[in-house]
Amino acid sequence: MNLKHLIKEAKYYKKLDGNLRRIGIKFILAKTPLKKWVNSTSYILIYKKRIKKLSKKIRPKFLQIENTNICNARCIMCPHTSMKRKQKIMDQKKFEKTIKRVLKDYPSIKTIIITGFGEPLIDKEIVKKIKFINRLYPKLQIDIYTNASLLDKKIAEELLKTKLHKINFSINGTKKTYKKMMGLNYNKTVKNVLNFIKRRKELKKKWPLVNISLMILKENEKDVEEFQKFWINKADSVMIYPPSNWAGKQKINFAVQTPFKIKRWACNALWQYITIDVEGNLIMCCRDYESKIKLGNILNKNAKEIFEGKKINDIRKRQLEGDFSMPICNRCDNSFDSSLGWWVK
Ligand SMILES: C[S@@+](CC[C@H](N)C(=O)[O-])C[C@H]1O[C@@H](n2cnc3c(N)ncnc32)[C@H](O)[C@@H]1O
Ligand code: SF4
Repeated sequence: MNLKHLIKEAKYYKKLDGNLRRIGIKFILAKTPLKKWVNSTSYILIYKKRIKKLSKKIRPKFLQIENTNICNARCIMCPHTSMKRKQKIMDQKKFEKTIKRVLKDYPSIKTIIITGFGEPLIDKEIVKKIKFINRLYPKLQIDIYTNASLLDKKIAEELLKTKLHKINFSINGTKKTYKKMMGLNYNKTVKNVLNFIKRRKELKKKWPLVNISLMILKENEKDVEEFQKFWINKADSVMIYPPSNWAGKQKINFAVQTPFKIKRWACNALWQYITIDVEGNLIMCCRDYESKIKLGNILNKNAKEIFEGKKINDIRKRQLEGDFSMPICNRCDNSFDSSLGWWVK
């Protein structure tokens, strides 16, 4: 990454969060050579101290809600292709009930991510869902992750009328590799994304921030330069990153491993992140794509009862004691990201 790109990324990080101190730390740790510090004893000491402090009072910052687990793509790195859960769309009523219940117990939530293991734009009511949150909780940031294949002009206009904070376009390839990577039509996707960016500009809107992502596998590792060159001046940010193994369940042709492994310590997601599947189940972690570890269902229990219940508290306690032998955690390769997560919000 050259200096110009680094400055662009820094600006994007600033817009994304707004808190300069937090975002500065996160940026330095993720993007500059100082990231090597993350593996050091002094970093781990600070990290442990932060976790201990934050674990005293449960104040989650992120809510990820799966509006649908149906997908129109066949990405080779995504567990969706083997997912056994029943595929459906969460109806508006259940969505609204879920949001209200979580926000009642946890006004600490700052960001809602309307995406799960599926393509969020398959849900014809996604705009209605975003508008519901905008109306009831105008300060909340809403993010979505999409493959953009269904982002036609109409839905682009509708999304641009909402107060969406960030939209991530997962493109994962160039003309040569895209079809193999995602099973979708490259030209159509690129046209959709370029139209969205153009319309945002014409409407003189700064939001949503547009991030374009590429996950590097063996199959597309030669694409990185071309991808970066094509998108860097079009989007607010380009993210190129290594894949996760989805808690050991996904067969991946790793091109590069996660930059370096920090020594494992309790994962911030257990305190900071509420993940809700399409049925309304709070699940232990966003890596649990089969919803194997259900903590309780938000449609018949309050958020606090579930997110501070015995099941999750036992897992938290075990992780604080250095025990990662529970299912999902025992095969998870996400410890690098999760240690940086503390600095985001
Ligand atoms: C599961 S998808 C769901 C949303 C939407 N269908 C999309 O592709 O953006 C959410 C994000 O996970 C990413 N993803 C898929 N497989 C992954 C893997 N093995 N490691 C890390 N991220 C992955 C996708 O590229 C996408 O950015
Ligand atoms: S990464 Fe997204 S688009 Fe690709 S299969 Fe998974 S859910 Fe679908």
